[in-house]
Amino acid sequence: MVPIPLSVLNIPAATGRRLVAIARYYRDFYAELQRGGHELYRMTQLGAWAASRASHVYFFFKSVDLSSCKLFLDLGSGDGIVSCVAALFTRSMGIEIDADLCCIARRASLDLGLGHRVTFVCGDYLDHRMDRADCLYLYPDKPFDRLAERLSSWNGTLLVYGPHLPPHRLRAVGMLRCGREQMALYMNVP
Ligand SMILES: C[S@@+](CC[C@H](N)C(=O)[O-])C[C@H]1O[C@@H](n2cnc3c(N)ncnc32)[C@H](O)[C@@H]1O
Repeated sequence: MVPIPLSVLNIPAATGRRLVAIARYYRDFYAELQRGGHELYRMTQLGAWAASRASHVYFFFKSVDLSSCKLFLDLGSGDGIVSCVAALFTRSMGIEIDADLCCIARRASLDLGLGHRVTFVCGDYLDHRMDRADCLYLYPDKPFDRLAERLSSWNGTLLVYGPHLPPHRLRAVGMLRCGREQMALYMNVP
């Protein structure tokens, strides 16, 4: 898929430079993986890793005004690309079961100078207090009804990337599109 030209995202210059740095860092990382004969997709203990795209994610986060969120949490943060983009808006955290991916994410956040804005925890996100965050992000690798059940009295917004099966317990309150990508917004609506 063709990346979105940054000029159409209408970004302040300093943020634009940091977004470009993130996009380049991960582009180089993926190229290195592929040179080593690895796929940009692999199975982990609890699911499957594939990465979101920095420019699309930035567009979605800007559209939902992520800077008004106090704590952003990426559930299954993979190589950390989403948490790093979220750190341009607010304090962000990623939880990932795969220790290697977690290491890659930590190193990326430090290399990109985002260590003060983003942290990574290695573990199962279902074992963590997700309700501390007011915005959750999920790029689902399986149906997520168990997660939705855990969020039944939570007041925040769950952002779900890509096509997926909608959870039964949360109400869809919005849908954003960027090229062929989409992101759905869910909340508990009384
Ligand atoms: C499709 S990838 C998304 C990665 C990242 N969020 C992104 O958008 O680039 C899903 C990730 O969730 C992780 N995962 C799945 N279930 C998990 C769980 N219960 N706890 C922690 N990580 C989980 C997988 O290991 C995988 O790396």
